[in-house]
Amino acid sequence: MRSAPHRPVGPDYTGWLPGVDDLCYGGDYNPEQWPEEVWEQDVTLMREAGVNLVSVGIFSWALLEPREGELDLGWLDRLLDLLHGHGIKVDLGTPTASPPAWFFHTYPDARVVTRDGTVLGFGSRGMASPSHPAYREAAVRITTALAERYGDHPAVVLWHVHNEYGAPVSEDYSPASATAFRRWLRERHGSLDALNAAWGTRFWGQVYGEWEHVGVPAAAPSIVNPAQRLDFARFTDDALLACFVAERDAIRAHSDRPVTTNFMAAACPATDLWKWGREVDIVSNDHYLTAADPRNQVGLALAADLTRSVAGGKPWMLLEHSTSGVNWQERNVAKRPGEMARNALSHLGRGADAIMFFQWRASRSGAEKFHSAMLPHAGTSSRVWREVVELGETLRGVREVRGARVHADVAILWDQESFWAQDLEWRPSVDARHRERVDAFYDRLWRDGLTTDFAHPEQDLSPYRLVVAPASYLLTADAAANLTRYVESGGTLLVSFFSAVVDEHDAVHPGGFLGPLRRALGVAVEEFLPLRAGETLGVRFEAAPGTDGAGRVDTPGTGAVVRGDVWADDLALEGADVVGRFVGGPADGAPAVTRHRLGAGTGWYVSTRLDVDALATLLAPVYDDAGLAPSGLATDVEVVRRHADDAQYVVALNHSDAEQKVPDLPDGTVDLVSGDRVVGAATIPPAGFRVLRSPAR
Ligand code: GAL
Repeated sequence: MRSAPHRPVGPDYTGWLPGVDDLCYGGDYNPEQWPEEVWEQDVTLMREAGVNLVSVGIFSWALLEPREGELDLGWLDRLLDLLHGHGIKVDLGTPTASPPAWFFHTYPDARVVTRDGTVLGFGSRGMASPSHPAYREAAVRITTALAERYGDHPAVVLWHVHNEYGAPVSEDYSPASATAFRRWLRERHGSLDALNAAWGTRFWGQVYGEWEHVGVPAAAPSIVNPAQRLDFARFTDDALLACFVAERDAIRAHSDRPVTTNFMAAACPATDLWKWGREVDIVSNDHYLTAADPRNQVGLALAADLTRSVAGGKPWMLLEHSTSGVNWQERNVAKRPGEMARNALSHLGRGADAIMFFQWRASRSGAEKFHSAMLPHAGTSSRVWREVVELGETLRGVREVRGARVHADVAILWDQESFWAQDLEWRPSVDARHRERVDAFYDRLWRDGLTTDFAHPEQDLSPYRLVVAPASYLLTADAAANLTRYVESGGTLLVSFFSAVVDEHDAVHPGGFLGPLRRALGVAVEEFLPLRAGETLGVRFEAAPGTDGAGRVDTPGTGAVVRGDVWADDLALEGADVVGRFVGGPADGAPAVTRHRLGAGTGWYVSTRLDVDALATLLAPVYDDAGLAPSGLATDVEVVRRHADDAQYVVALNHSDAEQKVPDLPDGTVDLVSGDRVVGAATIPPAGFRVLRSPAR
């Protein structure tokens, strides 16, 4: 079984950033884009806004090493000293996400090649081939130079390696990548026979007789072997991670400050964050709202909960979000008054002890000039600036929250390998999308006010009352055994359709679909029955058996008929009770939702796609089994709690335009920002927030 998700291999930085006894507030600071006179004004305004940490140098390679091997660090010396003089700490970047022009000129074969053979050029930003020896060497060289020079600089409290590994490109089909892929395959599979077996190469006559004949899964006449593509996704992730580890170790040779790299939890398909979380000293994340989604606070919460889970529950850092609109979506919607603070506090409530932005001062030139900033083009007379200053004050007011932990009774399974596999071509239905199911179940839990962790299917699940598997297409035998044990020992497991279909080689499980979960769920899938586009069916909920097994009792939702679409299964019962039956569709009258008692727990299976409203009907009896209940708060109210030994902190956000209430607060509750006592219920102003301290429960 996997150990705790977050286990840094270096020094244990549970004590937060060295010498920092505060929540962190600030952003990416790119002063090299401005004349040095502006820097003085920057630091003065940073003090005014309450900024205490900035990320520096992330895209500065071309300035730091203008010609190969020639360093120019003078400007960075001056900058770090200036920041230090004003008491502003530094998260120092390694600039390896954007190699200089000379690099690509000297090493043209280190350019990334896309799947269709396009060689990516210079003039933007982005990775060189992560597997090219010249890139690795140059990256470690500039990182070492920075670590030697600034490893014990008093301003530097954190190292920021690279930027968002996996973006804007991750997979590389260059010759350097092909060589590295073969090396990786030899290590993973040991022999060509093992590789041929794992990839099922007898199908379509793909059997390999020589290692040299094995290639990257570039574009081919028809779809490429899915197991090969899955291995290539794993290899790509490992290649990126190896780049991080090489830089991290180069830093550690000269500096005892913690090392992070900014993740894009839930937004970067290339990285398996469970692995990455074990390699960083402090987990950090970037998050940007999806402007097109009017309820994008839910996606934000999902990303924050995933980041906290990757951090093993430890406090983490939000290294980037935006003060208002971004510049790279189709319609870059500006944040409305109060929205930035609610976004920041949702991250805080979900475990972030640093609230940072991209970026400090808006850029006049280049690709991101229309991106919002802490100091916008409109300057300090703007609403955004006033809200930035206010947020700084708020964070000072709530600083005692730092270090407090979030507790969750529910976990959603998240396994990047399964998502990689499910995303490949020629699946039973293009409408069965893993992310859509994760989002829908998460949204239901969010609306029900149940704080949710994410968990790897092989990790210890015993802390959770309820585990939801919305999209576990690839489920290893070990993971299935783990889930079965979880049920037997009293857990409630809810599995959604198209789960436990294949093993780690994308080969269908012996025993058929759902094979290794049949014991836990008491049901088998005989055949998938995907629906046509737009086709719907009904699910009628029936009375479920009493929990003591005697007689049938009315469970919540009995008699309700809800609508499903996308999918149905032809199910064979193997001990489970039928809780819902199809009305119409290809399996009319047959089981749609089942419930199975195993040992001390219960395994539920749902074989169609229910939307977030219909999920309420499904989840009512599931919550019953798990001993959970929805919070009963208004849908637009978000409440999250952090727990310390002697206090619990309640972060309450009102996403509506009407005043809302958080009831039933214990005696002794205090508003951390105003200092006022709160008796019974707290009102939250329209579009506003409250951060409260209550006695520990
Ligand atoms: C992030 C990136 C930043 C900036 C930002 C804009 O993905 O790390 O450098 O480009 O997006 O939203």
